[in-house]
Amino acid sequence: MKPSSIDQKQRVLDVLQGQRVIPVIKIENADDTVQLISALVRGGLPAVEITLRTAAALEAITIAARDVKGAIVGAGTVLDKRHFRDCVDAGSRFIVSPGATIELLDIARKSGVPLLPGAITPSEMMGLREEGYGMMKFFPAGQAGGAAFLKALSSPLADISFCPTGGVSLANANDYLSLPNVECVGGSWLVPDDAVAAKDWDRIEQLALEASKL
Ligand code: 3PG
Repeated sequence: MKPSSIDQKQRVLDVLQGQRVIPVIKIENADDTVQLISALVRGGLPAVEITLRTAAALEAITIAARDVKGAIVGAGTVLDKRHFRDCVDAGSRFIVSPGATIELLDIARKSGVPLLPGAITPSEMMGLREEGYGMMKFFPAGQAGGAAFLKALSSPLADISFCPTGGVSLANANDYLSLPNVECVGGSWLVPDDAVAAKDWDRIEQLALEASKL
């Protein structure tokens, strides 16, 4: 492994500050940003991933990074270098992608903001490892083999760590978090669509509180 792989993992972990559960968020209405992210911060989950799956995402990242005290704002569903650049300009402190492309690895290499790229096969993982990555997103975790799959990788690919997302919930998060090669998990269960629609920020805070104890 290249020496820089230790750096990438350490840089991601430094930004996350030990947080083991990362809310994966889809914000439809940028006006909800401050209250939504504040609820997560109050609930003990200040590091959040706002996904580029809505038209409001970049505005939400800008608002969260600028206006929510204590929030550690990252960007998810970053698919190309334009996304990467826009998210960094908006204030993202980490960048998450479901996969990895030459273009993304290239811009990440030149950036001070760490990338958490996605991989689900041993060959993809080994390819990223050669590029200097020691920590990867494992998505969609449930469909790709779940905790049993990651456990099977912990011996042959012992120096690669993961953040599984996709199908992770309060009920199964510990199956992943108890593995030696899992640093954190991500999930959207902390921010249910109906809670956001009802502006039920207390419910989101409670969900975060529960998850912060995992
Ligand atoms: C992600 O991008 O990490 C996933 O969409 C989150 O998956 P979930 O909605 O099943 O938690």
